[in-house]
Amino acid sequence: MRCAQKRCAAAQAVLIPAARLPGRRRLRHNDPVTTTLGPSPVHHPIFARLWSALSRFGDEGFARYRAELVAGLSGRVLEIGAGNGLNFTHYPTAVTEVVAVEPEEFLRGKAMAAAAAAPVPVRVIDGQAESLPCEDGSFDAAVSCLVLCSVSDQRRVLSELHRVLAPGGQLRFLEHVRSSSPRMAAVQRGLDRSGAWPLIGGGCHCSRETLATIAGSPLRIEAQREKVFPPAWLPVNPIVIGTARRSG
Ligand SMILES: C[S@@+](CC[C@H](N)C(=O)[O-])C[C@H]1O[C@@H](n2cnc3c(N)ncnc32)[C@H](O)[C@@H]1O
Repeated sequence: MRCAQKRCAAAQAVLIPAARLPGRRRLRHNDPVTTTLGPSPVHHPIFARLWSALSRFGDEGFARYRAELVAGLSGRVLEIGAGNGLNFTHYPTAVTEVVAVEPEEFLRGKAMAAAAAAPVPVRVIDGQAESLPCEDGSFDAAVSCLVLCSVSDQRRVLSELHRVLAPGGQLRFLEHVRSSSPRMAAVQRGLDRSGAWPLIGGGCHCSRETLATIAGSPLRIEAQREKVFPPAWLPVNPIVIGTARRSG
């Protein structure tokens, strides 16, 4: 019974909006509204192992998108949600340092191993894209690859990326977005609402209108190209590769 009460209190803590809690004070049990004090931890042990095993197999074709994503970058780069580090080998040598943020413990371990073999210095750190442990204006570029589908708050992540980019710095993104086909979009929405897709995909949502959210952020979209993640019928299509910039 005591256990059930504890679970109930924990569930309430997750359900109520953060915006109504002033500042960052600790929660009290009888708060009229309660909230978590930040994004919830990212812990997807089964997905992490599946992604780590399967992403390499499908990656021969996808590797060219990864290469395109980071082509021409230089200086200090922040990569959010680096996963098992499949982008690391593609960074051009003009990149002086990659700081790779990965909140999932198992994937972070894999990313650290991948960092050791990367052609540029890569530092892998724990953290979440909604509250980046990085200084203002400290990066020349940021990279988001198949991550904005999974974060708990896209707007907050984009505002964080804007904060940590230097004036004139760029965000390179490669993200799957909601289909323009009404039928496919309905399937994507159904998969997300059922909870099935987020459960299988470690928090992934296939119906997010990520491009529109980037366009509505403080970053300015400069370029975008649509791609397909084969096979084309997968609900994680289409994919958009693009660049958005912080004004100088
Ligand atoms: C589909 S995987 C993509 C991994 C990698 N970017 C790639 O391209 O192979 C999604 C990644 O986003 C990470 N992720 C999920 N929520 C996150 C958050 N709030 N902040 C940062 N990363 C997050 C996951 O741990 C996972 O590594």
